[in-house]
Amino acid sequence: MFKIEERYDLGNLVTFIPNKRVPIHNWFYFKEGFSRDFVLLMLDWLKIKGDDWILDPFCGSGTTLLTSKEFGVNAIGVDASPLAVFVTQVKTENYNLEKIRDYAKELFLKKFKRYEIKGLSSLTKRAFSRYSLEDILFFKEEIKKIEDPKIRNFFILALMNAADKVSYAYKDGGVIKICEKPTIPLKKVFKRIVKKMIHDLKKVIYKGSEIKVYIGDARRMDFLQDGFFDAVITSPPYLNKIEYTKVYSIEYELFFEDFKIDSLRSYIGLNPKHVKDLFPELNLPDIAKAYLQDMNDALEEIYRVLKDNAKCSMVVAEGAFPDRIVPVDLLMANLAERIGFKVERIIIANERVVTKERTFKIGKARESIIIMKK
Ligand SMILES: C[S@@+](CC[C@H](N)C(=O)[O-])C[C@H]1O[C@@H](n2cnc3c(N)ncnc32)[C@H](O)[C@@H]1O
Repeated sequence: MFKIEERYDLGNLVTFIPNKRVPIHNWFYFKEGFSRDFVLLMLDWLKIKGDDWILDPFCGSGTTLLTSKEFGVNAIGVDASPLAVFVTQVKTENYNLEKIRDYAKELFLKKFKRYEIKGLSSLTKRAFSRYSLEDILFFKEEIKKIEDPKIRNFFILALMNAADKVSYAYKDGGVIKICEKPTIPLKKVFKRIVKKMIHDLKKVIYKGSEIKVYIGDARRMDFLQDGFFDAVITSPPYLNKIEYTKVYSIEYELFFEDFKIDSLRSYIGLNPKHVKDLFPELNLPDIAKAYLQDMNDALEEIYRVLKDNAKCSMVVAEGAFPDRIVPVDLLMANLAERIGFKVERIIIANERVVTKERTFKIGKARESIIIMKK
């Protein structure tokens, strides 16, 4: 029923891996992200022009927005996670480099002061050496004193990055694991990262476009006008992989103290109770029903804010359950057509074998790009 193509050459592009080498894109490692190269390809496929407006309603670490900015295209990003919005904001901001350099000089001359680590969770305490943690708290308190929010946020992101480099914690799937190892002093790493970030900014020349990012819920984007956007380039959370706050809990504790767990309610697929079953004939697991209902609401919103004939490119992955693979790409394409989209093609970019207890094969799960038109 849908036109399906296999393009495994795009497999790496729908991951964050190529961004690890790209200045500014690599200011924060966001493992759920896609790459700048993917967005570049979509800007080409969707025939985006200079004064167009792009929306990424699940903007994550801002790959769509930053790439649009590089190419002089206007873009708006929305994300439910304060961490994602923060990272996107810092990466897409315009800076006064002189001010940053001056502040960096001042910061690294400050006299060390010890802050109490007692109040921190045992996970955060286990994730660093005592020296690293005390350095992180010291620099954080100093950065908090900076009045200019742009500069303050720039240094907080640099410090988050440095903290990650000296951390014993690593993200393994949806969980944080700890492995102690020798580390370099935090101040040294932090200095090196600030220097690199300044260097990255020196090299880029933007063509001048508007970039905005909002904390919000893709299912209810009331603040966006009907028929405003020329394209959507996005990747929603994957079914079964709703781990965004759990794996970033150390970052939240250290750098976003005011964050309330309540705001998580807006995460896609998080509430499997009282859901409408959009595919009763399939007898889907409750989590999949909740996910698809939430994605249906998001698709309706995307449809509403797009101009007529405008296109949407969405990267999705099939969900693996003990007894089956849920074909999210086909089900989402079906929902999109019920809403009024015309699904032009589904491009399979990755396929991985899913096993139960590492031996019993459940099936193959695809990662696909859905291209649709309003
Ligand atoms: C797969 S990631 C997007 C990654 C992004 N393409 C990038 O390159 O960084 C999905 C994002 O959706 C966000 N999210 C989850 N539920 C949401 C909702 N209801 N509204 C908006 N964003 C949501 C998550 O916080 C996460 O950042």
